[in-house]
Amino acid sequence: MTDRYCVFGNPVAHSRSPAIHAAFAEQTGQEIEYTAIEAPLDDFAGAWRRFVAEGGRGANVTVPFKEEAFRLCEVLSQRARRAGAVNTLVLGKNGQSYGDTTDGVGLVRDLERHGVDLAGARVLVLGAGGAVRGVLEPLLAAQPASLLVANRTASKAEALAADFADLGAIRGGGFDAVEGPHDLVINGTSASLAGDLPPLPDDLFAPGATAYDMMYGAEPTVFLRWAAERGARTVDGLGMLVEQAAESFFQWRGKRPDTDPVLEALRRAL
Ligand code: ATR
Repeated sequence: MTDRYCVFGNPVAHSRSPAIHAAFAEQTGQEIEYTAIEAPLDDFAGAWRRFVAEGGRGANVTVPFKEEAFRLCEVLSQRARRAGAVNTLVLGKNGQSYGDTTDGVGLVRDLERHGVDLAGARVLVLGAGGAVRGVLEPLLAAQPASLLVANRTASKAEALAADFADLGAIRGGGFDAVEGPHDLVINGTSASLAGDLPPLPDDLFAPGATAYDMMYGAEPTVFLRWAAERGARTVDGLGMLVEQAAESFFQWRGKRPDTDPVLEALRRAL
């Protein structure tokens, strides 16, 4: 029987993961089936159990199930424990569910692709929700000179910084605590979805700085447009999406796909 994988979400019809994993499988000669499954909002664990009973070997997990996936796993990677979320489920040989999160490593690999040197950089992360929590460990592991987490609700950023304080030079605060210059500014808020821009000072960017939005779309986000006007180099989150998928694929199949052609094809199709 063909090994089965899927992405669980709700809604999930828009997901690009089936196309990405089909491309990875073709490229690496892996025979797998990968579909999108809309899990019921009140029974994610049941959806995963049913999928396993029907030959499922692993899954990606997206909004709004990452925390629930975290809770059902018998075994968790260190980075998933830190993130408090799971985006990659792997069925163990003994039937146990193993949970990992590949979002953070996906972001760091995409930054590497764009030649962003995190070591010694002054980094600002906007937002303090699940998306940001998921990327802080690998960002800190790259040893930036400083990492400021700024959020509309300052207390959430402060709490997040306290949770990761053992890993490096991290601080949290409100947007009013932000002053430039920064070498890298990552937008991890969902403000772009509403076309909103966090209130930010004009002198945010150091010369040669990069602005990264974890969101992506056919058009640049409000944040990226604002950043481009202030001289920053801009990068959207499509590469992060492909890189997190590649790391999940590696967890399941032990093969590392070449992400560049897959990213190019996705970009053309946006
Ligand atoms: P996710 O899983 O995408 O991180 P989340 O946990 O709901 O979702 O977090 C959303 C983040 O976007 C939060 O940091 C939120 O700020 P608050 O903690 O103050 O709510 C931020 N956010 C959402 N809409 C925003 C807006 N219009 N302006 C600024 N920040 C916004």
